[in-house]
Amino acid sequence: MRKNIVAGNWKMNTTLQEGVKLAKEVNEELKKVTPKCEVVICVPFTHLASVNGVIDSNNLGLGAENCADHKSGAYTGEISAAMVASTGATHVILGHSERRQYYGENSEILKEKVNLALANGLTPIFCIGEVLEQRENGSYLEVVKAQIEEALFGLSPEDFGKLILAYEPVWAIGTGKTATDDQAEEMHAFIRGVIADKYGKEVADNTSILYGGSCKPTNAAALFAKPNVDGGLIGGASLDAESFMGIVNAF
Ligand code: 13P
Repeated sequence: MRKNIVAGNWKMNTTLQEGVKLAKEVNEELKKVTPKCEVVICVPFTHLASVNGVIDSNNLGLGAENCADHKSGAYTGEISAAMVASTGATHVILGHSERRQYYGENSEILKEKVNLALANGLTPIFCIGEVLEQRENGSYLEVVKAQIEEALFGLSPEDFGKLILAYEPVWAIGTGKTATDDQAEEMHAFIRGVIADKYGKEVADNTSILYGGSCKPTNAAALFAKPNVDGGLIGGASLDAESFMGIVNAF
């Protein structure tokens, strides 16, 4: 059966020194509990190798927040999936709405990134989600379905089975406005149905689908209690060890 997962997305926050300190704190806090979920922190590229050196990889997974859509070569400033993997990272967030919105990432680009991540043994945490207008005009289910079909449905069932999905309603990210647990469950159940139609019930049942968007210690338990919500992708609340652990311990 699928895993429960709580993953932090630090975004463009913390200096290297602050990041290493935070990673150590999370690592230490995790030793004090027996979490009922896998825990991953996704950190800036500059932090990966150093953070990998201070965490216990049996308790805490490590991921990047992005990778390039090319294998290697003359792409100044880009970081390849192979480079990410060479730091010891095991996961990579792909398709985050901030990348789609500010850096023009579309399904064609994301398809390449997913393929390269998988080819380098990384687990993609693939983000999907609608903007407020799409939520309000009722097209949100179709929007998310198209995001999944366009970027991911070229994968073999075996490769699709390696993914983690994260539903992040864009209107709930960093706004303090959370989808209700019923809104999250409606979408997560829908996503699982879309996967089942393409890859069958077994693949769908084994896919972890995380919720992201103003998930906090105060609302995590209600969200995670929903049958199709398998954890969270946490932005702001992952920048403080205590609040991140509050979410981990919501399971
Ligand atoms: P917040 O938790 O800050 O709303 O961010 C969610 C997110 O974008 C995680 O990827």
